Amino acid sequence: MKNFSYPLTKIGIVGGGQLGKMMAQEAKKMGFYVTVLDPTSESPAGQVADREIVGDFYNEKKLKELIESSDVTTYDLENVDTKVFKEFKNRGYKIFPSPETLETIQDKYVQKKTLAEKGIPVPDFKKVESEEDLKSFGFPVVQKARKGGYDGRGVFVLKSEEYISNAIDGETFIEKFVNLEKELAVLVARNIKGEVKIYPVVEMVFDERVNICDTVVSPARIDEKIDETAKKIAIETVEILNGVGIFAIEMFLTKDGEILVNEVAPRPHNSGHHTIEACLTSQFEQHIRAIASLPLGSTEQIIPAVMINILGEPGYKGKPVIEGLDEILSIPGVSFHLYCKKETKPFRKMGHITVVDKNLKSAIEKANKAKKAIKIKGEEKI
Ligand SMILES: Nc1ncnc2c1ncn2[C@@H]1O[C@H](COP(=O)(O)OP(=O)(O)O)[C@@H](O)[C@H]1O
Ligand SMILES: [Mg+2]
Repeated sequence: MKNFSYPLTKIGIVGGGQLGKMMAQEAKKMGFYVTVLDPTSESPAGQVADREIVGDFYNEKKLKELIESSDVTTYDLENVDTKVFKEFKNRGYKIFPSPETLETIQDKYVQKKTLAEKGIPVPDFKKVESEEDLKSFGFPVVQKARKGGYDGRGVFVLKSEEYISNAIDGETFIEKFVNLEKELAVLVARNIKGEVKIYPVVEMVFDERVNICDTVVSPARIDEKIDETAKKIAIETVEILNGVGIFAIEMFLTKDGEILVNEVAPRPHNSGHHTIEACLTSQFEQHIRAIASLPLGSTEQIIPAVMINILGEPGYKGKPVIEGLDEILSIPGVSFHLYCKKETKPFRKMGHITVVDKNLKSAIEKANKAKKAIKIKGEEKI
């Protein structure tokens, strides 16, 4: 039997956004000591951490300070310096998911190639080396930046040849445009010993104005065979990547009933926020357990759930002003999460709500009502 003293483990988190915040909250609940590195002071995660270090994610000195003062280091975003991570890993520091896993995922082209070579179904893809390459799959076609994209930034749909003049510069690849029936996501946790736990498959619905995942429905309304296939592919994907921590596998369900992996996130994900209220172990606690080498928790979902992102209202910026809070909190089963970002911007992820209800249909109805009522505006009009 192992004995533990307080704090359990000192955890360093690179990135102080909402994912880091919810990770830090769960870690602190269990008695971990949390340090956060973010370019801005009092970041969402910095506000709840024991200690914050202010610095850029590529600032070697600051990364060193974080890693050296932590027993294990993790991150809430992919855009991190893997070179520095590797150097520290080689010197014996614990970094999870590993810098090698992160490196493969960071470059979306390498990620796709790695998975495709091991037999994971993905949309047809091709590296872009010349303008001609953009035409290889005909139109429409999806062009993606290899690195640095998120929330639809770095993804461009070329509807016809005329769109080529607006194509993304830099290192990119193209993907066949998939006729989507639904977008699904599966969260998989894997710890250092290789123990694996999987969450129920969820449906992601997108705000078409900005291509940001807007609503998550859990469990997904799909038939059993698709559910099984999605789960099998998700576990294989995390094993191929040798992942440690929580991983989100974004998938496409095509009109022909096929499952294709779109992309993988090596961290807690927007498609798993509902696990805080709806599952026995949240994705954030699970991630902390995995990287701290503790047994993983049950992923059982105890009640259906719908999660809605609250995006900054277009036309406003500056200090956030919340409208409709009384109304949404009067609906039974609604939980409100505010990320406490200092400033709002159009479509910035400012918070989310989770609605739980024994009946999924009525959770969806309540969520739609809440979505209309809640708004985050800013003190300044733009
Ligand atoms: N090959 C594709 N066919 C059709 N739609 C796609 C394709 N690739 C991406 N999309 C759409 O664009 C969204 C964002 O693409 P994704 O690669 O997940 O980038 P991001 O890093 O911004 O999440 C997807 O969730 C999906 O709605
Ligand atoms: Mg995505």
